[in-house]
Amino acid sequence: MKIECRDVSYKYEIPGDEWALKDIGLTIDQGEKLAVIGPAGSGKTTLIQLLDALVLPSKGDVLFDGQSVRALSKAKKLFSIRRRIGVLFQFPEHQFFHETAYEELTFALRNFFDQGEEEIEKVSRSLMGRLGMDIDVLRRISPFRLSSGEKRKLALASALLSSPEVLILDEPTAGMDAQGRRELIRIISGLKDTTVVIVTHNLEDFLAHIHRCIGISRARIVADLKREDLIARLDDMAASGISPPLALSVRQGLEHEGVASLKGIFDMETLLESLEKNFVSADEA
Ligand SMILES: Nc1ncnc2c1ncn2[C@@H]1O[C@H](COP(=O)(O)OP(=O)(O)O)[C@@H](O)[C@H]1O
Ligand SMILES: [Mg+2]
Repeated sequence: MKIECRDVSYKYEIPGDEWALKDIGLTIDQGEKLAVIGPAGSGKTTLIQLLDALVLPSKGDVLFDGQSVRALSKAKKLFSIRRRIGVLFQFPEHQFFHETAYEELTFALRNFFDQGEEEIEKVSRSLMGRLGMDIDVLRRISPFRLSSGEKRKLALASALLSSPEVLILDEPTAGMDAQGRRELIRIISGLKDTTVVIVTHNLEDFLAHIHRCIGISRARIVADLKREDLIARLDDMAASGISPPLALSVRQGLEHEGVASLKGIFDMETLLESLEKNFVSADEA
């Protein structure tokens, strides 16, 4: 699904409040992977709510495959869009409301997709197996009794279960340990045709898996760059209070010193491997 924000502004309904988003123009094509970065309070979560048709713009319009969110809302058809989008919220447990973790996990599939219990159990077991959680345990336990990492995993699984065309993740690795991060990245890199929008403070984690990066500051988009073009903007990034990904800072330094051939490298592991090769061949020469 193609998603287009046309001159979108958004204001929460609090008297005297500032724009939470202002004049946003953004087109996301099906299958694109993008990171959204920016300081706290800049409007990232608000943008996600617009991309998921959870809120309507105060000005402008959001188009889903060309259909206006305003028109969809009038026709009471927002649901036809929302069921195609999976969202992992910043605080997923705020959305929990079922007695067992299993009901929580399968809610959407049962209620919005009209699937039979057998089918639901089959896909749940397969997905949760891959995520290292046992659905027989989930049937017995309240979602609120899970650890915070498990809560997030449950919410992510719940979003993935219906194979959405678009997956939106709001700070998915915040407070996650290294293994959780690796698992999440493995899942994301397996979603070949799915659009993935990741709001993150750890661009580093996702750089090897995205095409594009959107920078938001004070309610406005201040950068919309292909991954390849980020390296030229590291100083701007630092000036906006965002720590530049280490792999890019190191690459920038090395390229400055005349070390070439690091293009296309976006993670430290590959960077180190490449350097090792370079140094070995320099030694041998
Ligand atoms: N529910 C809300 N009611 C009123 N103001 C809000 C609400 N949520 C966010 N805001 C305000 O909107 C602006 C953008 O917030 P948000 O989108 O949550 O930013 P981010 O996710 O980048 O931290 C902030 O000034 C914030 O205080
Ligand atoms: Mg937020």
